[in-house]
Amino acid sequence: MTNLNSQPNTVLSQDELKTLVGQAALQYVVPGDIVGVGTGSTVNKFIDALAAMKGQIKGAVSSSVASTERLLALGIPVFDSNDVDELSVYIDGADEIDGHGNMVKGGGAALTREKIVAAQSRKFVCIADESKLVQTLGKFPLPVEVIPMAAKRVMRQFSAMGGQAQIRLKDGQPLVTDNGQIIVDVTGLQIADPLAFESQVSQWPGVVTVGVFAFQKAQVCLLGTVSGVKTLTF
Ligand code: 5RP
Repeated sequence: MTNLNSQPNTVLSQDELKTLVGQAALQYVVPGDIVGVGTGSTVNKFIDALAAMKGQIKGAVSSSVASTERLLALGIPVFDSNDVDELSVYIDGADEIDGHGNMVKGGGAALTREKIVAAQSRKFVCIADESKLVQTLGKFPLPVEVIPMAAKRVMRQFSAMGGQAQIRLKDGQPLVTDNGQIIVDVTGLQIADPLAFESQVSQWPGVVTVGVFAFQKAQVCLLGTVSGVKTLTF
């Protein structure tokens, strides 16, 4: 366990824990490479920290419009994922992570591009505060990106599994993702077998991406805890 706090017994806020793990992730960035960058408030801390070493990397492949804008504002070049064969590392947050590195992601609605960039990366380093560590995935509402015409059918399929699905709203209207699709959030699921679950739901017509990351699970998790950054490897 690496302790990066100067005062280990100080109770840190969730925001401070995110800053700690965002900074700790810099050790996984390979100088001279292009780094895969996720999305969310924890990743924003990583992007801010990455600015300090922007002269040492070629740039980033980004998983969302929001992260792209933040990277560019800090002077970090952003590459199209199609122009890069393989990335050495992908740094991203999670809504939940279990003891095997399986995750639920998509709280920021960026799950599809996150899965794409994760798939082109050799290593997934998850950065999260300790509230995200769970025994079994499913407490956080599971995000699923769906083509709008399939929404009701997909929601019925989740009901048949014992879940409750609803369309994510923004300003009273269905939230539209960076890919022009919508998000269905599903509560009431216990995802005991993440690989089987991801495999099954990914085959439903109209599902673009399910927010279970088992095929693209993390190899490392930098977990912000009250006593510092804990490194979990899977
Ligand atoms: C975005 C994501 C994020 O990684 C996830 O929601 C965690 O976000 P935060 O760091 O803000 O808690 O999957 O689609």
